[in-house]
Amino acid sequence: MIKSLLFLSLLIHATFAQNGSWQTLDGNEPIVIARGGMSGLFPESSQFAYEVATQSPVETLTLWCDLQLTKDGVGFCQSDIRLDNSTNIATVFPNNENTYIVNGQKVRGWFAVDITSDKLKEVTLSQNIYSRPAEFDGMLPIVTVEDAAGLRPPGLWVNVQYDTFYNQRNASPAGYLKNVMRTVGINYISSPEVAFLTFMNGQVNKARTKLIFRFLDANEIEPTTRKTYSELLKDLANIKTFASGILVPKEYIWPVGANQYLEAPTTLVSDAHKLGLLVYSSGFANDMPASYNYSYDPTNEYLQFIDNSQFSIDGLLTDFPTTAANAIVCFAHNQKPAPVKGKPLVISHNGASGDYPGCTDLAYEKAVTDGADVIDCSVQLSKDGVAFCSGSADLSGNTNAKTSFMSRASTIPEIQQNNGVFSFELTWTEIQTLKPQILSAFQEVGLQRNPANKNAGKLMTLADFLQLTKIKAVQGVLINIENAAYLATKGLSISEAVSSALSNATLDKQQIFIQSDDTSVLSNFKNVPSYTRVLLIKEKISSAPKQAAEEIKKYADAVSISRSSLVVAPKSYILSYTSVVKDMHAANISVFVSVLKNEFLSLAFDYYADPMAELATLTSEGVDGLVTEFPYTATAYMRSSCSDFKNNSTYLIPPVEANSLIDVAPAEAQPPAEAPAPALDAADVVDPPLPSVAASDADAASATDPAAKAPTPSKSGVHQTNAAHVGLSLVTIVLLIMLAL
Ligand SMILES: *[C@@H]1O[C@H](CO)[C@@H](O)[C@H](O)[C@H]1NC(C)=O
Ligand SMILES: *[C@@H]1O[C@H](CO)[C@@H](O)[C@H](O)[C@H]1NC(C)=O
Ligand SMILES: *[C@@H]1O[C@H](CO)[C@@H](O)[C@H](O)[C@H]1NC(C)=O
Ligand SMILES: *[C@@H]1O[C@H](CO)[C@@H](O)[C@H](O)[C@H]1NC(C)=O
Ligand SMILES: *[C@@H]1O[C@H](CO)[C@@H](O)[C@H](O)[C@H]1NC(C)=O
Ligand SMILES: *[C@@H]1O[C@H](CO)[C@@H](O)[C@H](O)[C@H]1NC(C)=O
Ligand SMILES: *[C@@H]1O[C@H](CO)[C@@H](O)[C@H](O)[C@H]1NC(C)=O
Repeated sequence: MIKSLLFLSLLIHATFAQNGSWQTLDGNEPIVIARGGMSGLFPESSQFAYEVATQSPVETLTLWCDLQLTKDGVGFCQSDIRLDNSTNIATVFPNNENTYIVNGQKVRGWFAVDITSDKLKEVTLSQNIYSRPAEFDGMLPIVTVEDAAGLRPPGLWVNVQYDTFYNQRNASPAGYLKNVMRTVGINYISSPEVAFLTFMNGQVNKARTKLIFRFLDANEIEPTTRKTYSELLKDLANIKTFASGILVPKEYIWPVGANQYLEAPTTLVSDAHKLGLLVYSSGFANDMPASYNYSYDPTNEYLQFIDNSQFSIDGLLTDFPTTAANAIVCFAHNQKPAPVKGKPLVISHNGASGDYPGCTDLAYEKAVTDGADVIDCSVQLSKDGVAFCSGSADLSGNTNAKTSFMSRASTIPEIQQNNGVFSFELTWTEIQTLKPQILSAFQEVGLQRNPANKNAGKLMTLADFLQLTKIKAVQGVLINIENAAYLATKGLSISEAVSSALSNATLDKQQIFIQSDDTSVLSNFKNVPSYTRVLLIKEKISSAPKQAAEEIKKYADAVSISRSSLVVAPKSYILSYTSVVKDMHAANISVFVSVLKNEFLSLAFDYYADPMAELATLTSEGVDGLVTEFPYTATAYMRSSCSDFKNNSTYLIPPVEANSLIDVAPAEAQPPAEAPAPALDAADVVDPPLPSVAASDADAASATDPAAKAPTPSKSGVHQTNAAHVGLSLVTIVLLIMLAL
């Protein structure tokens, strides 16, 4: 029944430990404690969760088992004292519901003390956190302490959360542990109960088994001393008399304010270390956003606790042990400046728009500081022809235009279905009065981005943007051009605006990428061979047959595709990778993939809520550019030794193998096959030539006349380029000069 978990065979147990250089108590690297195994992916404390966790790049991987005891005294691992949320016990034994007083609280549910180990074997585990995959429910049995030890993890940690409760029911966790330790090595025993640890202190061999006092929320009452945990925290020396270390919620170390931003750290770690107490911290999970300071990258959070220049805790208790292990092996102490050559380019998307409102000066400056190789500007035009950067022509998402200029809203089906406030309906002076707004794809489910900077920064003209990239000496600049045909009907030539700005800016050190979804626009830039032309393919495709790719090659050196054109992941499980990268490479076309976001909701389950796993996978698929709203995360990955696929002697963050995760679920839980996306059709590649630019602004009013809107195709791209010059004055002249260069 239980399939093997071969899919993670790429993960190797290795000796990548860097002992000595850590600010932990003993100078060794911090340990990774897997709470119920890889419980972020599989039902907590199941065989799958434990097996996957042990496939770790750290030598210290420690499996965490929350001890519960059955009626006949068998110990097994489950975190909640009630079993009804994480198993199907309520359906298998409907009559076993009971009410007990647990630490002074009345609790109703299904309890282990009411069922024998024999009967418990009929029960299967299920996911008890609703945002995590449920496809592995109903197939895995409960795991005993001996089963967990049988997986031979480097370390085993048993937590006894309810000693008082079990003793009141005539069950003895201490007796059970003494017995089981005759055959099973337990490296750590923790408990939030003082009396239990004081008793165990005389029972265990401390060279083999460390006793750890677990702190609960500050105001909760410790059941055996009747003191609050915050009172107990004031006397760490007393804790040292019966424990080797402490386990604290992460907020004890890095408090988070009501606004969800980190405050200054407490002195707890150094206080405890001075007393010789080890410090472990709990509450880490990639899919539970902790503080805005981490920009939704869980690696940032782990590093905050182990690599912050002031201290390192001695271990992390997490539901996603692989990410924590990678933080230790790949990212800590890793300040190497330059990415290794030949790796994919990191290309910003509207600047660092995960941290600041997109396309503002602050978003661009952050993208530069973050080390992005290429900084992007999606060019829009104001009514009076000023070129500026904005993620879309509709300003109602990324600014407050909807409130300031509601009366100017319109619906333009050539651009988008929804009603919007479009840049070319406002003058640049009007646009400058707008307040930029940070955008999040997951706002409606409560995942805001950096609210402190919600309206920070200002929009930039294309000229100012280019000036910024020049001053900061960035390696590359990507200019994205859309809606050229429609703008021409409004008397605006966006290609010319871009050409003139580029020629005026004289970026002689930067690589220039001109990106458009329109081959006619790319044709306009053919005359400047140093420009890299990028065709934006918005449609989801599954392959690019030779003929189509060769057609593209006539217009572009690279394509930008969406993630879904490369990674086929219906229902958030990766089923396959398309041939698009291979097909494009066969035609000597580079492939950029967009848009990467850190939020776990944008990641397939296979990536275990870790954006680094996606970066590793896309890199291994051979993409040439990673277009991201969080360039810091991508450059951190690139700087790391764990992304160097050319180096055989280094640990690599493993790319995800297609179909490997969902394949272990029962057939009935697997998503039904979907029709594949179409292949790219050669006939769809080439766009019609751009219409000639409408005569003058004075006629702008007549643009509401449908006849005026209709594009007027001209005979050829070349002719069109020339035709477009008629009717524009200053800009035209600058462009002509540039084209003559
Ligand atoms: C690092 O320290 C741990 C704990 O003391 C030890 O088990 C491990 O062998 C050490 N690794 C190396 C490479 O020295
Ligand atoms: C089950 O989980 C839900 C949601 O997390 C929680 O509200 C409820 O109290 C839990 N019930 C039990 C019996 O654990
Ligand atoms: C977290 O972010 C806030 C807002 O940007 C900042 O004021 C604070 O200093 C940051 N905290 C840490 C510990 O970096
Ligand atoms: C040309 O560039 C300069 C800065 O080098 C800038 O001040 C000026 O506004 C630019 N002119 C145009 C037409 O973009
Ligand atoms: C591939 O295209 C690049 C420009 O994008 C060119 O420099 C190179 O010579 C081409 N290589 C082949 C084999 O066609
Ligand atoms: C890395 O491994 C591959 C295949 O095993 C081998 O062909 C290559 O020579 C190795 N490279 C180095 C630098 O050892
Ligand atoms: C390969 O990786 C090892 C271990 O991370 C590192 O010491 C070595 O410098 C790397 N070699 C190259 C050529 O980057």
